Amino acid sequence: MAGWAVPLVVLVVAVFGVQATLYQDCGSTAEIHDFTLTNCDIPPCVVHRPSNYHVNITFTPTSDATSLDTIIVATILGTDFPWPGPDGCSLLEGDSCPLKAGHKYTYSAPMPVLEEYPAISVVVKWKLRDEKDKVHFCALFPIIIV
Ligand SMILES: *[C@@H]1O[C@H](CO)[C@@H](O)[C@H](O)[C@H]1NC(C)=O
Repeated sequence: MAGWAVPLVVLVVAVFGVQATLYQDCGSTAEIHDFTLTNCDIPPCVVHRPSNYHVNITFTPTSDATSLDTIIVATILGTDFPWPGPDGCSLLEGDSCPLKAGHKYTYSAPMPVLEEYPAISVVVKWKLRDEKDKVHFCALFPIIIV
C-alpha cells in the first residue's frame, strides 16, 4: 500500500505544484473569501483515520438561489467516485436558503474520515450547485488518507 502511495504523492505535487492555496478553483461563480480544511494549510492534506474534519467556505453568491446541493466526487487513480454530499442549505451558519446575491455566507460541512476508509491518495472535487445547476463553488483539492 505504502509502495504506490509515494508515486501518487509525486503526481499530486506535480499537478498542484507548490502553492499557497489549498485548492484549485474549478468554476466558482461566487466570490470565494476563504476555504479551509481542518489542520491543512498546504496541499496535499494528510488526513488521519478515524477523525472528523471540516470543510469551511466563506462565499458571496453572485446570483440568488433557492437550494444548494453539495456534490462531491473523489478521483482515485483517474476514476471518479461520486460521494453523497449533505444538503448545503442546512450547513449555512446562522443563515438559510434562499441564497441572496451579494450576501456573505459561511458554509461548514463535517467531513468524517472513517476507520474503514482505505489509505490512499484522492483528489476531491467539492461543488455547491443550485436548483438551476449553477455552480456557486467548485474546488479541487488533494488529500492523502493515512
Ligand atoms: C469550521 O467550522 C466549524 C463549525 O463552525 C468550526 O468548529 C471549525 O473550527 C472551523 N474550522 C476552521 C478551520 O475554520
